[in-house]
Amino acid sequence: MTSGADISAQTVREEAARRRTFAVISHPDAGKSTLTEALALHARVIGQAGATHGKAGRRSTVSDWMKMEQDRGISISSAALQFEYRDAVINLLDTPGHADFSEDTYRVLSAVDCAVMLVDAAKGLEVQTMKLFEVCRHRKIPIITVINKWDRPGNDALALMDEVFERTGLTPTPLTWPVGQSGDFRGVLNRADSTYTKFTRTDGGATIAGEETMAAAAAEALEGTAWTDAVEESDLLDLEDQNHDQDAFLAGRTTPVMFASAVLNFGVHKLLDTLVDIAPAAEARLDKNDQPRPVDAPFSGFVFKVQAGMDANHRDRLAYIRVCSGVFERGMVVTHAATGKPFATKYAQQVFGRDREVIDTAFPGDVVGLVNASALRVGDSLYLDEKVEFPEIPTFSPEHFMVIRAKDSSKYKQFRRGIQQLDHEGVVQVLRSDLRGDQAPVLGAVGPMQFEVAEDRMEGEFNAPCRMERLAYTIARRTTPECVPTLARERSVEVLSRSDGELLALFSDRWRLQGVQREHPDLVLEPLVVS
Ligand code: G4P
Repeated sequence: MTSGADISAQTVREEAARRRTFAVISHPDAGKSTLTEALALHARVIGQAGATHGKAGRRSTVSDWMKMEQDRGISISSAALQFEYRDAVINLLDTPGHADFSEDTYRVLSAVDCAVMLVDAAKGLEVQTMKLFEVCRHRKIPIITVINKWDRPGNDALALMDEVFERTGLTPTPLTWPVGQSGDFRGVLNRADSTYTKFTRTDGGATIAGEETMAAAAAEALEGTAWTDAVEESDLLDLEDQNHDQDAFLAGRTTPVMFASAVLNFGVHKLLDTLVDIAPAAEARLDKNDQPRPVDAPFSGFVFKVQAGMDANHRDRLAYIRVCSGVFERGMVVTHAATGKPFATKYAQQVFGRDREVIDTAFPGDVVGLVNASALRVGDSLYLDEKVEFPEIPTFSPEHFMVIRAKDSSKYKQFRRGIQQLDHEGVVQVLRSDLRGDQAPVLGAVGPMQFEVAEDRMEGEFNAPCRMERLAYTIARRTTPECVPTLARERSVEVLSRSDGELLALFSDRWRLQGVQREHPDLVLEPLVVS
């Protein structure tokens, strides 16, 4: 098939420069789903807010796919929403809302160029917010911070800025400043040009909120002290030099801040403008040898998520690819770096929740869902002509462990197939040892809800109902084959191998780990990854 040769390098560079690929991340309940639907609404992808929201009473469920998600009203799966806004192409990657699926969030973050961190004005920085800040810092992802729910009484705006600075080390550089305290959200002061954007409520926030931008004098006449207070506070930020600096933002030293109410659609338009104006475009990505792959090089990309069983009508398996360079054209035959084998891309789709569309062409920054891509695993690279391998996506250290067995031993074949599939997708980590055998592997997870997903899918999708039994380990450390005999002699320590070849030593708790380390200081017992 074609190799994208009919699309010029110049076009690829221009298309890459138009891309803004980002994820919204937050502590659960900060308003991520609400903001996602508001962004989609603004892009006029959907007619009325609510279509992507899975909470009770809303119209339909687009991004929450499994029954379990619907029951609990949480979003487990990742999907990508693409829309055009101004002259940009926005790729919004969805991340799971629940902390138990943070490994999944981490994978999605490997595929974005920027993150929008949503903070609840009344709650400030929460546990998951802090973890995600850390992950972004580790991956050098620039962060735009959105203080959400300003329509509700909450913290003082300056106090929130202090909290961001003190707890993350990033200097907050507000682009907008709220007019009206939290609970009395009238509009925002645009700090770049000192104008005022006044927001007007619409019925239930279901349609785009009214906005009117005016000069400072008109704002003062209209809002009185609410306006002058905002100006004074903004002047204080000036004194501290808390103004946007593009280089410092891209280098991860500062975070631009905006104020919003996702539920009322206030500030959403400005967030989109900000993404277009300052978020980084798709640029050359570093390969595993730290060499940049220019965006106009031949096609390349990597798998950041594998997902199956999205609904009963589509019992297939999707591998999500982030395009890093060149043009993706449906039908092209690329090379799968892990095996060196050709890989046909006949069934390529753009996926958002249940909605799927066939995708014919994609550029750097875009996400392509490849259907029935059973050979692909998370972290795999694909390329055309010039070989490239992107860095592996690190796995988290599991903290919960279960032995899993088929309830019905005649279903062993289905059982094995299911376990292998869940392993490939990274739903859980699969650990084994000769002692335990393949009939009773150990599943490792970052959060216990991952086990529920695994159990659900083993029964529903692979027709292999299972029994699970908890193991009393909470800590995993990477070790080497040489250390295994010594570790095997230790009480309540077990060594298991993971499918990526890592050997993991499991310990009941920190004290047990420290005891073993004290006794055998030469043992290799390394922490797995940032968490
Ligand atoms: P999440 O995806 O981050 O978990 O949060 P989600 O959007 O589901 O929002 C959590 C709750 O916060 C929802 O209320 C939502 O309506 C509310 N919310 C989101 N943004 C704002 C905002 O800007 N202002 C106010 N006041 N509330 C906001 P809920 O009662 O849990 O659900 P629902 O019945 O309203 O859907």
